[in-house]
Amino acid sequence: MDKPDVGELTPPDRTLMGPGPSEVHPRVLRAMSTPLVGHLDPSFVEIMDEVQDLLRYTFRTDNQWTIPVSGTGSASMETAIGNLVEPGDTMLVPTNGYFGGRMASMAERAGGEVVHVDAPWGEPLDPADVAAAFDEHQPDVFGFVHAETSTGVLQPDVAELTAIAHEHDAYVVADTVTSLGGVEMRVDEWDVDVAYAGPQKCLSCPPGASPLTLNDRAMAKVLDREEPARSWYLDLSLLEGYWGDERAYHHTAPITNVYALREALRLVAEEGIEARWDRHREMAGALKSGVEAMGLEMNAPEEYWLPSLNAVRVPDGVEDTDVTAYLLDQYDLEIATGLGDLDGEIFRIGCMGYSARPETVSYLVSALGDALREFGADVDVEAGLAATSRKLGE
Ligand SMILES: Cc1ncc(COP(=O)(O)O)c(C=O)c1O
Repeated sequence: MDKPDVGELTPPDRTLMGPGPSEVHPRVLRAMSTPLVGHLDPSFVEIMDEVQDLLRYTFRTDNQWTIPVSGTGSASMETAIGNLVEPGDTMLVPTNGYFGGRMASMAERAGGEVVHVDAPWGEPLDPADVAAAFDEHQPDVFGFVHAETSTGVLQPDVAELTAIAHEHDAYVVADTVTSLGGVEMRVDEWDVDVAYAGPQKCLSCPPGASPLTLNDRAMAKVLDREEPARSWYLDLSLLEGYWGDERAYHHTAPITNVYALREALRLVAEEGIEARWDRHREMAGALKSGVEAMGLEMNAPEEYWLPSLNAVRVPDGVEDTDVTAYLLDQYDLEIATGLGDLDGEIFRIGCMGYSARPETVSYLVSALGDALREFGADVDVEAGLAATSRKLGE
């Protein structure tokens, strides 16, 4: 085998306004270049405690079982579902987006039976439909996606959904991958039993260590399982040995990712979680006003608009992929096209974490306007820019 001739790493300097990853805050990048200590070093044990406290603050919870799972958002997702769902359990999952489908696959692999509550792609679940599905199927576990990245829909009425589940003695798992740190989510107040997230969205941290929280009730079910979870790596009863009081070896934690998450969460605490939710609404609101004033249409109505992921309808006569390719090529700007039932119908424009800033929002509105005009859409770019500037107070 010849020696490969590979040069120095020089990735393009992109503005990341897609469905994730978002741009990483410079302080997080700096934290990632600090030297390693061992994963059982007393100084790292302190860092673990700090990360857990910061995660509790961000999730708005006092849950003891609050940890970063080693791996991407799918790892914290599979830790939640693969531990909570036991063979023979029934899990109720939504059909209104891509990630409900992933929940179903994970529940099946855990030995569960999957039942569905339906809503079209692009709409949230209706609590009445959830109640009807509970009456019909009596599920043990109910999963829902708080911020559906595939459709740009925010699930409202979370406390109403959890109340329905708890009336039936079921456990609630919330996917907060695209909401944690960017959109209001109150784990304790809204009575969510288990919530998982990813760091690369509203926390503006690279993927690699993914937030998870479980209340005592959910953890009691996990620790009471008749047979162990099917994954050794994600088995919470074993991970407890490392993240619980004992601090014993389970696997070598991704130290650098934990450093990164610590810094990203420190930024959340410095800003204040509520101020951060407000900033996301303000920045995404300026983006939304801009695209609407330009003549485009949002896919989701105001009541369930998701500030962290803006689904904008592709105007007639325009090929979505022409626009995304042009933006990448001409502007080094990443946005995404639609998925599944919304393939070809929407652009997915993220406004998350460090990417949710006036400069990036203005850049996006002007670049998108230029791209759409280039491909023949009837858009009023100047009106869009003026509306965005007004909202940004410029
Ligand atoms: C809502 C939602 N859930 C789960 C995931 C899975 O996360 P990851 O791709 O980090 O494994 C994603 C990723 O985009 C997501 O948007």
